[in-house]
Amino acid sequence: MKLQPRFVQEDRVAGTFRVHRDVFLSQEVLEAEKAEFFDKVWLYLGHESELDKPGDFIARQVGGRPIIFTKDRKGQIRALLNTCRHRGAQVCREDFGNAKIFTCFYHGWAYGTDGSLVSVPDADSYSSLDRESHGLVQPKLDSYSGFYFLSYNPDVEPLTDYLADAKELLDLVANQSESGMAVVKGAHHYSMKANWKLLMENSCDGYHGMSVHQTYVEMMMSLGMTPSLVKQSGDGAVVADYGINLGNGHATTWFPELGRPLISERGLELVAAHRERMVERLGEEYTRRALNTSRNTIVFPNLVIVDLNFGIQIRTMFPLSPTETAITGWQISPAEVGDELKGYRIDNALTFWGPGGLATPDDVEALEQCQIGFATSKEVPWSDISKGFGKPRPTTFDELQMRTFWRRWNFLVTGEQLPEEGESYAQLLGPISEKAKVSS
Ligand code: FES
Ligand code: FE
Repeated sequence: MKLQPRFVQEDRVAGTFRVHRDVFLSQEVLEAEKAEFFDKVWLYLGHESELDKPGDFIARQVGGRPIIFTKDRKGQIRALLNTCRHRGAQVCREDFGNAKIFTCFYHGWAYGTDGSLVSVPDADSYSSLDRESHGLVQPKLDSYSGFYFLSYNPDVEPLTDYLADAKELLDLVANQSESGMAVVKGAHHYSMKANWKLLMENSCDGYHGMSVHQTYVEMMMSLGMTPSLVKQSGDGAVVADYGINLGNGHATTWFPELGRPLISERGLELVAAHRERMVERLGEEYTRRALNTSRNTIVFPNLVIVDLNFGIQIRTMFPLSPTETAITGWQISPAEVGDELKGYRIDNALTFWGPGGLATPDDVEALEQCQIGFATSKEVPWSDISKGFGKPRPTTFDELQMRTFWRRWNFLVTGEQLPEEGESYAQLLGPISEKAKVSS
């Protein structure tokens, strides 16, 4: 059920954009978010590389439902709702593994890895039980460049339409490997006492870097690194630097190359060798676009891909309540880079993006501080997201990315359509060569 449009206010003449803080507090808003988009749009499920062999499975939560992400015995990737058709128990209680069959431990109904109901104890005592129609229910499933998405809406639009220009950003990840990108086994699971949308905003927010991540920047400087993040704020050097509206609420911050402090000379050699192979495969121009810039991309509603030149982080989140969020993070790497370079990437993921790393605790602290501040929402009802509104080309230090998210959110929750803002990916960065395109 749509809500009245009262949460987002913009004034194009004055260049102001604000969001009512009820969106971070209200149970009614959360219910509307579930009904109006979490139940209707495409949601990220997982990456093809997470399932190697037939029978491999991973149990995870997607859009508030328990899902089995599995490769069936014939090699087809599937999403199965993890609830027994008998009386509801989860049929898979392991986090991951390889199975021939999923047997419900309650009364013993058993399902194949393709979801079909294959066995029912004491089946003769049923006067009629149609096994064909009692398999595990399967939501819509599709993939793009190795990234699998599901939808609980049977009439959802095609995934390629939904992703809009975010497809280019997924291709930029997929193209970094000649043999296929591979998710590093395991995931970070953590939570924060703040609304989920604060993390979506934060994940594409360049503005907070210099203050929230000051310790990190100082450490880089003490190690002699001069990352572009420092250059921009220090001597004002102008480098390609955009906030980009990717359509349908998706957006990216397009950073110049961001240095990494935690890499040795040997690590840099390995990165250079990987870069050389990519130039041979896809040319200098595309390689420069992929590896000499960094991107923080948000795919509406709850997928983040942080594509830095030395480590790619995938992150999803889901609201446990209006004021609490469950978060999962994965690291994805080119399959062919070898254990040594993969080790550097994992180290990078742990020390920077991990729940105990250099970035994430600081971000979580900032977002939990916002949530505490929202207790004053009767006295201070609006958050300001105007930075760069009206500029010809907003940068990563502006807030176009968040406004893009909020306009889509507002449209889906209230039906109110606000005009879009910003040049397209192709206008800002030029078209992608056919050679560099990854087929879906
Ligand atoms: Fe699964 Fe009864 S609930 S067999
Ligand atoms: Fe941050």
